Amino acid sequence: MDKFIIEGGFKLSGYVEISGSKNSSLPIMAASLLTDKDVVLHNVPELRDINTMIKLLENLGCRVERKNKKLVLNCKNAGSLRAPYELVKTMRASILVFGPLMSRFGYAEVSMPGGCAIGVRPVNLHIKALEKMGADISIEHGYIVSKARKLKGSQIYFDIPTVTGTENVMMASVFADGTTFIKNAAKEPEVVDLANMLNKMGADIKGAGTSTIVINGVDRLDGVDYAVMFDRIEAGTFMCASLITESNIKIKNIPVYAMDAVFEKFKAVGGFIDIESEDAAVVGGKDIFPINIKTSVYPGFPTDMQAQFMSVLSLAKGTSIIEETIFENRFQHAAELNRLNANISAIGNKAVIRGVDKLVGAKVMATDLRASASLVIAGLAAEGVTEISRIYHLDRGYEHLEEKLSNLGAKIRRVKE
Ligand code: EPZ
Repeated sequence: MDKFIIEGGFKLSGYVEISGSKNSSLPIMAASLLTDKDVVLHNVPELRDINTMIKLLENLGCRVERKNKKLVLNCKNAGSLRAPYELVKTMRASILVFGPLMSRFGYAEVSMPGGCAIGVRPVNLHIKALEKMGADISIEHGYIVSKARKLKGSQIYFDIPTVTGTENVMMASVFADGTTFIKNAAKEPEVVDLANMLNKMGADIKGAGTSTIVINGVDRLDGVDYAVMFDRIEAGTFMCASLITESNIKIKNIPVYAMDAVFEKFKAVGGFIDIESEDAAVVGGKDIFPINIKTSVYPGFPTDMQAQFMSVLSLAKGTSIIEETIFENRFQHAAELNRLNANISAIGNKAVIRGVDKLVGAKVMATDLRASASLVIAGLAAEGVTEISRIYHLDRGYEHLEEKLSNLGAKIRRVKE
């Protein structure tokens, strides 16, 4: 297993180019199951989770190849309808093949995703929605076994605006008989990106980005050439890296339109942002001020940015409180940050962060994707050397992170453990 060695205390400068969004690429790749024509995607990042989705689609009979920065998928010969536990257990987002398989074949066997570090993360809302659309679903030996002669357009109401649940139902509705209404739908930009691509393929989807999405079933979808949106969470991660090292950097490919809540909190905590265009901004700062953060669904403050801001707040001039409302166990980075001399107490879904004068390098362990990013951010500012083990978590969602940070002047290297 690899680890990062970071020597803290170095300022960052220059510019970084943000990669395509992991959480937009994954549903968009699964959507290639909905056509037998080529789906050509641009900006798909090279990540472990993307490779897992490629393996899963190939397992289902699709052909996937990277051709000079493009990902070309063709699912004409898709025929196996089983998403195996061995793959699904490594990436919960594998559940995103459930909707497309039901749409195209009327049959799917998808392993129940196990829990994960940040929470139980059930998929009951996905299942309930597909049953409402007429699927006959049973759980057999840990697999969701689902069949339907033809899915029918229905009124779907989500108790919780689930992101991949919304994406699955959107993909399950594209060929359904009649109209599907998704009420209390997730409004994340990645949901809109998927809808935009499906419409470009010939689907009839309206209202993506609002809490009510309306999908009229169509007969078939064409192939498409589509550029995936850039990654707002990676962009936010670099914003935190700039502030905690008292630096100014330029971020290119930042999806400014999707960053309001993160920008708001970044300025409140002491950062400055100079927006140069719709996809470029100079970010940085010096002093860090205490603030309170409550994560919520889009357009609120994203749970995927909570850990990164916790690292920044560990050096604030005062006490901050973070309330995590989306996942039940997403403070595992707090104990690791305390090993770096932070002073954080996490009780239930609230964390109290008492600012300290300095962080001090130590050996720490990554526990999940965004927690590993928070440890990197803290390591950049910590006095001395910080060693982060189990960075396979980080490789799931950040493309070439150490190269990008080194190009900005950070002293970070990857070594084999
Ligand atoms: C997506 O996960 C993202 N993953 C997550 O990003 C992100 O943290 C999350 O949305 C919230 O924004 C992808 O898009 C691939 P949810 P998802 O369904 O869809 C509960 C990252 O770091 N729930 O919106 O799985 C669930 O337990 C990852 O990139 C049910 O109870 O999240 C959670 O408490 C981490 N039943 C809440 O809803 C269900 O059937 C939100 O989950 C589905 C969800």
